Amino acid sequence: MAPLFQRTTFLSSLVLSLLVIASSATAAVFEHLSVGVVRIHADATARDSALPSFSIVGPLPATTTLVEAPVALVFMRRQGRHAARVAIASGTDLYGTGEVFGPLRRNGTRTICWNTDSYAYGAKNLSLYQSHPWVLAVRADGTAFGVLADTSYRCLIDLTDGILFAADGPAFPIIIIEGDSPQQVLVRLASLIGTMPPPPRWALGYHQCRYSYTPDDRVLEVARTFREKRIPCDVIWWDIDYMDGYRSFTFQPHDFPDPQATNDALHAMDFRSIAIVDPGIAVLPGYHVYDSGNAIDAWVRDRDGLPFVGKVWPGDCVFPDFTRADVRRWWSGLYWEFLDSGLDGIWNDMNEPAVFETAKWTMPEDNVHLADDELGGPGTHARYHNVYGMLMSQATFEGVAAARPDRRPFVLTRASFLGGHRYAATWTGDNVASWEHLDASIPMVLNLGLSGQPFAGPDIGGFCEAGDGDMFARWMGFGALFPFARGHTGKGNIDKEPWAFAAHVETTSRRALEGRYRLLPYLYTVFQEAWTTGLPVWRPLFFADPADPSLRAVDDAWLIGDDLLVIANTDPGDGSPTTTLPSGDWRDVTGDVFGTRDDPDLPRLMLKDGAVLPLGPIVQSTAEPWDILTVLVNPDEAGRAEGRWYDDDGEGHGYLDGDFGDWILSFERGRLDRIRTAGARNAPDCETIIIDVEQDRR
Ligand code: GLC
Repeated sequence: MAPLFQRTTFLSSLVLSLLVIASSATAAVFEHLSVGVVRIHADATARDSALPSFSIVGPLPATTTLVEAPVALVFMRRQGRHAARVAIASGTDLYGTGEVFGPLRRNGTRTICWNTDSYAYGAKNLSLYQSHPWVLAVRADGTAFGVLADTSYRCLIDLTDGILFAADGPAFPIIIIEGDSPQQVLVRLASLIGTMPPPPRWALGYHQCRYSYTPDDRVLEVARTFREKRIPCDVIWWDIDYMDGYRSFTFQPHDFPDPQATNDALHAMDFRSIAIVDPGIAVLPGYHVYDSGNAIDAWVRDRDGLPFVGKVWPGDCVFPDFTRADVRRWWSGLYWEFLDSGLDGIWNDMNEPAVFETAKWTMPEDNVHLADDELGGPGTHARYHNVYGMLMSQATFEGVAAARPDRRPFVLTRASFLGGHRYAATWTGDNVASWEHLDASIPMVLNLGLSGQPFAGPDIGGFCEAGDGDMFARWMGFGALFPFARGHTGKGNIDKEPWAFAAHVETTSRRALEGRYRLLPYLYTVFQEAWTTGLPVWRPLFFADPADPSLRAVDDAWLIGDDLLVIANTDPGDGSPTTTLPSGDWRDVTGDVFGTRDDPDLPRLMLKDGAVLPLGPIVQSTAEPWDILTVLVNPDEAGRAEGRWYDDDGEGHGYLDGDFGDWILSFERGRLDRIRTAGARNAPDCETIIIDVEQDRR
């Protein structure tokens, strides 16, 4: 039992913070989970029958006290569903709700958590590929709280009048996380749902994809062209045409006869490769995945108990039931042999799951999963639909980790759920080559970050339709800075490599990507903060001053970490981008990072006052050694500035044994000190160039 004063303090702060919440007639029960975090059930029966959580990773701090609910929250039935409403005070702005198309600020919107393959989606699509039943609320005074509806069922998030969750299935608990700031709420959220695993450093490089580079010679040609044209890039992606008959874990014998040799050639050019693996398994006796899955009866069942068969790329398919640990283990094991081909990472797609030629483009909701008891036991697809993709990416992550124990796994997934960042990065699916999508890609990634997923990006340049060079240049201009930066396009589309358009597009793309690679020391430090604390990599502008109302709805400017502010021009035309800036003496460092301030397709970059920004030299990939560190400093009024630089070997797990360095870069009176605060690693032996951006601009 928690000490009484602790409970009282917490509850009274919650009551204070949620002053306008209507009184509840129900006998809701509170469970105090940790400082600032409570779980609330509609009543004791709901608590006793609550299903296991997919988002929260245990062990939870001991549940301490059950008390009558203060007037915080109303549970109700709405159109036959269980629902919960939290009222909000005026001046409260709402964010999160996962992967959503539309503005950053979510007040007035509706989202339906139901993972959906949404080709060429737009504002009309209330359900995209992922589900995050989570809202971050920032009050007028800059304090914040988060509301998590802990259900995997289809769930409406209605933000037209306060915060309402209405979900199919049984009653579900609500978790409320209180914080002094939105940042504190996100860190507390991460203490419940975990943080992302450290990615390999190469995954922070640029990725080039298309549907599909084939045959193998074309893969190599694209890689070679990056090097010849000196456009930085780390990864080439293999889309479904590398497979034999679109069968997962196979290679097309004619076009990819020797995948190992292809990967050796890529590695020799300092490229990595990532291949797509889909969940639909062709019904084909003799195909090793089908046969070995059959041997453990691995498939999701239809309502009559027979393996459910639906069409995806290979034709008739069965679908692994990832709610079973034995099936996840079998799936993980498939990567042992597959990765012998030298592939470096895995891309899981179509895992909503998408099923062609069906009314709802997925499997029937009365299909049956034989889930393990710890996930809630056997149940319908309606219960497990939203977590199918996350459980698939978990099995993939564990398989890649086991096959390559000395390396950090990299997995990308299209479908996911709140908590899925523990296993995979994500991208925003089949977007469109339009200015509207270019614009929307920014708040989409910001809201994913505010929903626990820091490692995200769109298909830069647009997946559906051609678009044009002007738009491509603008998108790449700021898109090179997405946490996950990948260009991709659909089958039959025009080429969309950086050199596929006019010369100026190639020039802008090169500058933008050179800028990303120069920023890697800083970006890697921000990623380390994300994987240790749960803070996002891209952060909304209001993080700089959560109490400033003018920053709450800014969609075209954002922060990377705390110190670097990006302003993108998302409208056609060459007008210089402008935005409301947070208070402080932010200084323009565009030219220092990109080599020019005069390219209208590049975003503007501003450095916070009192900050130090570590930059590397221009390199062609993360594998290239470097020996010059440039630090941009923007001294505060007292002439001081400070930054942080984290570094490790970017690949294995040595950082767990102290093989990392964490330095404070401390600037005062023209002098920079590098003070190691943690880790045993020595700083790379490099010349340091200090650029005082304040003096520079005088
Ligand atoms: C889906 C994916 C897309 C991929 C295509 C072929 O549409 O979203 O990225 O290129 O399938 O695998």
